[in-house]
Amino acid sequence: MNRTTPVIPQEEIARQRAYCAEIRALNARLERAPAAYVDTYGCQQNEADSELLRGMLAEMGYEIVDTDRDADVIVINTCAIREHAEQRVLGNVGALVHGKRRKPEQIICLCGCMAREQHVADKLRQSYRHVDLVFGPQVLWRFPELLRRVITRRGRVFETGDVPGAIAEGLPVRRSGRVKAWVSIMYGCNNFCTYCIVPYVRGRERSREPEAILAEIRQLVEEGYKDITLLGQNVNSYGKDLGEGVDFPDLLERAAAIPGDFLLRFMTSHPKDATEKLFDVMARCEKVAPVIHLPFQSGNSRVLSAMNRRYTREQYLEKVRALRARIPDVVLTSDVIVGFPGETTEEFEDTLSLIQEVRFDALFTFIYSPRKGTPAAQLPDPMSKEEKSANFDRLVEEQNRISLEKHQAYIGTVQRCLVDGLSDDPRNNLNARTPGGRLVHLSGDPALVGQFVDVEIVDCSTWALFGEKR
Ligand code: 5AD
Ligand code: SF4
Repeated sequence: MNRTTPVIPQEEIARQRAYCAEIRALNARLERAPAAYVDTYGCQQNEADSELLRGMLAEMGYEIVDTDRDADVIVINTCAIREHAEQRVLGNVGALVHGKRRKPEQIICLCGCMAREQHVADKLRQSYRHVDLVFGPQVLWRFPELLRRVITRRGRVFETGDVPGAIAEGLPVRRSGRVKAWVSIMYGCNNFCTYCIVPYVRGRERSREPEAILAEIRQLVEEGYKDITLLGQNVNSYGKDLGEGVDFPDLLERAAAIPGDFLLRFMTSHPKDATEKLFDVMARCEKVAPVIHLPFQSGNSRVLSAMNRRYTREQYLEKVRALRARIPDVVLTSDVIVGFPGETTEEFEDTLSLIQEVRFDALFTFIYSPRKGTPAAQLPDPMSKEEKSANFDRLVEEQNRISLEKHQAYIGTVQRCLVDGLSDDPRNNLNARTPGGRLVHLSGDPALVGQFVDVEIVDCSTWALFGEKR
């Protein structure tokens, strides 16, 4: 067997659970259960990691609360993808010093992608002395041990070094909802796009065993979950490290064969690895939602090459054609970066024309943010901020027009939607999703949450559809 992914031995996981029991015994001596708050920044992978953190904290006897006010343990799960996100985190972590003055025994932890950046770790060590525990994503499974070390020694703990990533199975999890669930199928990234920090902070790609993933999905379906998203930085690389001959389309097809009324989604797909085999499985399996998030990043082949994306504009468009040939009404969403170092306005025009040609249902637009340690951060970047912003605004405006037109085309159709939550709007008290994941507002019995219902679409905005239950 040529499996290269290290799996944490079950004895190690049992050791972590024993630390949970130890902390639980300490907490049981208190008058009331202590409170723990986990705050999450960034992507769905972080949301999924936070559900593990909450699971571990609950096992340690903490009550999980939704505010940092007066919490006994605060965990900030951070994102490093752009400067702006980092500044927000640092500002918010800085402000926690006031709460801690009132409550000196409070324990403040920072984890996630920022914890793996040397300059952040140094700053926290020197200037954020109220932060007690800092640890990276690769050692998340050791959280009970690390927290115990802080509690018993009352010293600061930094576990921010570069350790090879592994797979940890069997940690407790506390999920945030009863309808939608995340299932991580792999961790890390091997792609090294020149702008991106993820490979440096989350390490190399490693896949969970298919049997462990399928068992988790089966259990979720039994528990009544209806909308299950398979997660990975690049799900299309799934299985390459397993040496078992299982790839992502195989896994998806096996997951879709699990009995029950539910939908499967997945993210994120790198276009270079999104194959016709994947599109065939999507078309063939009714339980696979007709939607794909396929980040293109730029519409210009020179910029794509400088980004190390390993596909050209034409190749991207060809993938979209192959996908739409199989699933004509597939919902297509994407990410794009404006202002990559050296991108000219003519090159930006290619991005604009690509979105006009593809007509994405929704687009996540970002202005390039230099990340320390990535190759792109070394490139000359002559375009002014103002010019980049002007290009960005043009792109957003064009996409808003397209999104609105796409939504208008839903009016008069009937969609089988999953009611996935309540909204604050008294006229449209329910939120639902079309099979392709578009947001629908409607009114109805709150008991419908968690059910599929037929909804006639009667109105829309750029961002959402409005419907009536049939
Ligand atoms: N600057 C701006 N956007 C970035 N992204 C990743 N790295 C950067 C960066 N340095 C965007 C990409 C990616 C999405 C998650 O974030 O578009 O697909
Ligand atoms: Fe942010 Fe990327 Fe880390 Fe997700 S994996 S939290 S997007 S840096």
